[in-house]
Amino acid sequence: MKIEVWQGDITTLAVDAIVNAANETLLGGGGVDGAIHRAAGPELRDACERLALVRPGVRCPTGEVLATEAFALPARHVFHTVGPVWHDGHRDEPALLANCYWKSLQLAEKLEVRSIAFPAISCGVYGYPLYQAAQIAATETIAWQRGHREPRRIILVAYNSATFKAYQQALLAAGQPVEEACPAERSAQDMRIATALE
Ligand code: APR
Repeated sequence: MKIEVWQGDITTLAVDAIVNAANETLLGGGGVDGAIHRAAGPELRDACERLALVRPGVRCPTGEVLATEAFALPARHVFHTVGPVWHDGHRDEPALLANCYWKSLQLAEKLEVRSIAFPAISCGVYGYPLYQAAQIAATETIAWQRGHREPRRIILVAYNSATFKAYQQALLAAGQPVEEACPAERSAQDMRIATALE
């Protein structure tokens, strides 16, 4: 079992599930949410719109996750999770972000997903400090793998080199051996990620 860090566009990954860093409406937005909706096609928004509101304007509360099909994406499922907006770290942000990873992995196990890719949830518009978020991603995925067989492939997707490095450092700090990153001059597409082998 291994945790991988890969640099590139999550919408191109032919994995069983890609995780979307959505907002509570689940009706799309910018960043990775916008990229996933564009790549999936309009049926994704239709599917999200059919999901029940749990309260006015909210289909998926922060820290929770809901699955839809992936439509035109190469993945099979999209797991829509909503990360916390960063304020000051004293409004449950760490626990809510940890829930995004843990509940997505629980859903993956339930749906017999064998490979799952996560973007850097909350690290864009929602302003979560990158290294603190990377530490949570590393801690949650490593803890999951220690106790579960599936999903056997967990990929942390970095969209830029700063995120790639933060994941590398966080995995190393969490005791996961990490291969040297590929030289920066190689294209992001070729950037076969540091693979942390258990
Ligand atoms: N593939 C992988 N990662 C991506 C991609 C992509 N195609 N596009 C952006 N990212 C990265 C960003 O660089 C960032 O590291 O995803 C991470 C999360 O950033 P955001 O997409 O801004 O998500 P978040 O910070 O969780 O904010 C969510 O933004 O787009 C809206 O509707 C969304 O309101 C919600 C909010």
